[in-house]
Amino acid sequence: MGKESVWGKIRAEISECVKCSLFKSRTRAVPGEGNLYSSVMLLGEAPGRTEDEEGRPFVGAAGRLLDKLIEEVGFKRESLFITNVVKCRPPNNREPKLDELMTCSYFTDRIIELVDPRVIVALGNYAGYYLFELKGGTEWAGVTKMRGRVYRLSILGAQRAIIPTYHPAAALYNPQLYEVIRSDFELLKTAVNVSRGLEGLLKFTKSRGGVG
Ligand code: URA
Repeated sequence: MGKESVWGKIRAEISECVKCSLFKSRTRAVPGEGNLYSSVMLLGEAPGRTEDEEGRPFVGAAGRLLDKLIEEVGFKRESLFITNVVKCRPPNNREPKLDELMTCSYFTDRIIELVDPRVIVALGNYAGYYLFELKGGTEWAGVTKMRGRVYRLSILGAQRAIIPTYHPAAALYNPQLYEVIRSDFELLKTAVNVSRGLEGLLKFTKSRGGVG
């Protein structure tokens, strides 16, 4: 099955999901969107009101900020893949619960395996917790301590570069954080280039019979 067919199946399952109680209050589930072949994934928290209405990730106020960040560091939104650790809006925009994040990881895992990104930007503490503690077997000490560098973790069967940063919504309340998030997004370019270089090296070594 091609990536598009698998993605169609995952999306349909998410839209009908009743694995946690968030299905009761959602308008639409928000599976995620973007380039299934991208080497970069942006992983957010959970849909807000606008996302719940439209069924698309990051299309409200935080999304506009995210679009600006993506463009400022030289990427195009549609060339990346964007999803959230929780796919349905928590009522009244409350924070997601740990059991909702863990239940939804049934889908988050499959989306990561399908897109298979080399680099994942963790937008905020929930994405950081999911990637580091739940998948990477590494302590997540909170975004303030962890941000500002690139980590290499083995996640769902592959080495991936992880860039933790604040959730863009944080910059809506504290505009000074915009430049901090932007400096973390700058790390994306290097991380993508390094991962391309590593892959090229691996292919070259394999073609010479060097690595099994
Ligand atoms: N915040 C998120 O974490 N995800 C969205 O899709 C929108 C806002």
